[in-house]
Amino acid sequence: MIEELNRLRETAIRAIQDAADIDALEEARVRYLGRKGLLKELTGKLPELPNDAKPAAGRLLNQVKNALTEALAERKTALTAKTADEIRRPGPRLDVTLPGTRPRIGSRHPITQVYDELVEAFARLGFETAYGPEIEDEYHNFDALNIPTDHPSRDAFDTLYIDDEHLLRSHTSPVQIRVMEQREPPVRVIAPGKVFRPDTVDASHYPMFFQLEGLYVDEDVSFADLKAVLTMGMQEVLGADTRTRFRPSFFPFTEPSAEVDVSCPFCRGSGCSVCGQSGWIEMLGCGMVDPEVFRHVGYDTERYTGFAFGIGIDRMAMTRLGINDIRLFYENDVRFLNQF
Ligand code: DAH
Repeated sequence: MIEELNRLRETAIRAIQDAADIDALEEARVRYLGRKGLLKELTGKLPELPNDAKPAAGRLLNQVKNALTEALAERKTALTAKTADEIRRPGPRLDVTLPGTRPRIGSRHPITQVYDELVEAFARLGFETAYGPEIEDEYHNFDALNIPTDHPSRDAFDTLYIDDEHLLRSHTSPVQIRVMEQREPPVRVIAPGKVFRPDTVDASHYPMFFQLEGLYVDEDVSFADLKAVLTMGMQEVLGADTRTRFRPSFFPFTEPSAEVDVSCPFCRGSGCSVCGQSGWIEMLGCGMVDPEVFRHVGYDTERYTGFAFGIGIDRMAMTRLGINDIRLFYENDVRFLNQF
């Protein structure tokens, strides 16, 4: 028995010290010190010993048990420390002390912000949103809008032609035609989107920019409705104290036509660098739909009247944000974009 115990102590301690990880150590503990372990087995044999051998064997049993328990605890501390050390060591393992990766929260482009605000403002005034193709045919971009064949805007220098009949739309007005071809009055739509012109890039020109077209056709629509809707729309986006000024103008698809200025949101009309000291900023073109346009889409010109307008979204965004160079919108410089 004594001999057996000594042998057990030796092999058990070696097993404990050789345990490569916590799992192996637990395995050794169960094998030697567990409820059905080898030490328990020997303890069970104690009563079979002659009486005079019992005290010495019992003492040794306790000593072995204590020695193994101690060895286990020691090895456990060593293994745990090793694991922590590995975590702290730089390398492919996880370093919990490093700061996390901050998620980059983006924001909408300033043009998109004004675009969305305009869509929402006109939605509140009862306008639904319609879209048309960016590649248009001459009929929708020009003819149906009563723009004659010899009109200067049809010139190759003012329009980006794709072939003899197709072009990149030079304004959003063709969406008016596409909507009216599809349905009967009452029509109350806006059509926001990209338009294209072969302009040389400078502070106020870019070959691609955004417009928002508006169209309202019903019985008894008057110029007073046009003024009310546009003034409210401008106030929604530029501020409740915004004033509008209607100047007589000409567009082939409206009669009468007007250009609309808004009071400068920066100086409120007293004159500053944003508005070129005039107190006013030109924002859109509009007018009462020319009966000639209704004829193209088959509307009854005796029964229906309507108004239309076209807002430059880029210009509106520049005015709102106090930016004097349209190129800033399209350079994708995050230092600029981060500010909005
Ligand atoms: N299509 C015109 C342009 O691009 C803007 C415009 C003017 C649209 C008057 C309209 C309007 O609907 O009635 O310059």
